Amino acid sequence: MSDKVVVPSLADLRQRKSEKWRGFPSDVLPLPVAEMDFPIAEPIKASLRDMIDRSDTGYLGAIPELKESFATFAKNLWGWQLDANHVRIASDVGVAAVEILRVLIKPGDKVLIDTPVYNNFFNWINEVKAERVEVPLLKDGLHYTLDLAGIERAYQAGVKVHLLCNPQNPTGTVHSKSELQKIADLANQYGVIVISDEIHAPLTYVTKDFHPYLAVSDNARRTGITITSASKSFNIAGLKCAIYIAEDERLNELLATMPMAVHYRASLFGGVASAAAFASGQSWLTSVLAQLDENRKFVDSLIRSRIPAIGYRIPDCSYLAWLDLSALNLGENPAATLLERGRVALNPGHTYGSQYSQFARLNFATSHELITDGIERILKAL
Ligand SMILES: Cc1ncc(COP(=O)(O)O)c(C=O)c1O
Repeated sequence: MSDKVVVPSLADLRQRKSEKWRGFPSDVLPLPVAEMDFPIAEPIKASLRDMIDRSDTGYLGAIPELKESFATFAKNLWGWQLDANHVRIASDVGVAAVEILRVLIKPGDKVLIDTPVYNNFFNWINEVKAERVEVPLLKDGLHYTLDLAGIERAYQAGVKVHLLCNPQNPTGTVHSKSELQKIADLANQYGVIVISDEIHAPLTYVTKDFHPYLAVSDNARRTGITITSASKSFNIAGLKCAIYIAEDERLNELLATMPMAVHYRASLFGGVASAAAFASGQSWLTSVLAQLDENRKFVDSLIRSRIPAIGYRIPDCSYLAWLDLSALNLGENPAATLLERGRVALNPGHTYGSQYSQFARLNFATSHELITDGIERILKAL
């Protein structure tokens, strides 16, 4: 049995100093930014309190407990046997992605993304001055899958790196083992490196449905680098610590050429808290997933009863609802219209891919009361 998650009151949430709560005027209900409104896990709080009490607030050095706790967490959850010595550290997943791209490619090289996809993938590619190649996901109603034929054509045409969102933000798709194996075979055939962003993986509702890229085949181990962190699933993005892993010798040699600073620019708080999350956060994670499972269905029932014209497929992972608002006639940028007229903030769809301007992303990691308020504000704006 898991404990019930208790969401702080709106007044308490508004005291938070994070982007979600500081990014908008106080009459706006903020439902963008992937942070959860839930209290963080007790073992994480205890590890941070202990550090504060002992003024242990210096730089991050060696942190074997993080590497080992992640390896154990990955083995217990997904049966992925990885060598803890292959776990490397960066300040966040974005920094890991950009620094890895810097050693893998040169400006002008092609990097593939499967759109719609996490908006910062676009920024990371721009940051390293690579050429973005978009292969849109295939869409069957509101269910999205990888376009394997399109991916093969792009690989053939010279893609160097495939930045894969596994599982997928914003659509909530969890890629199947056979799709990932096919990507690994193609990557091996065409000499492509796959950077698999697995930050949302622990939030997959049916644990066995998620497959770590590096665990699907020998070709995946040959071609893959995983980037991930405890920041999304344990809600500690502000603590700044992520990990990245390669199992192939040649890729590890390349990663070893990265500046030392990539490691020590991460925070000691983040390293210690992430180790506590992976080692002792499982019961909290179970409670949170039970709550999110209720919430994803609650969003569905509210939409059906209040605004059935919104297209919504219950996501298979994480707490992001990808809403098709095209039937609502809200103009060129529905999220902007909803903000203006309904005082509710969602992420605008076009930032995940230009053809998704009629979509918006809603974060449901909050109370039923605030989810209801969010849907009522959308209704008010129509
Ligand atoms: C797929 C994906 N990758 C990375 C991030 C951001 O991670 P970080 O804050 O560690 O850079 C997010 C945040 O929502 C995300 O959805």
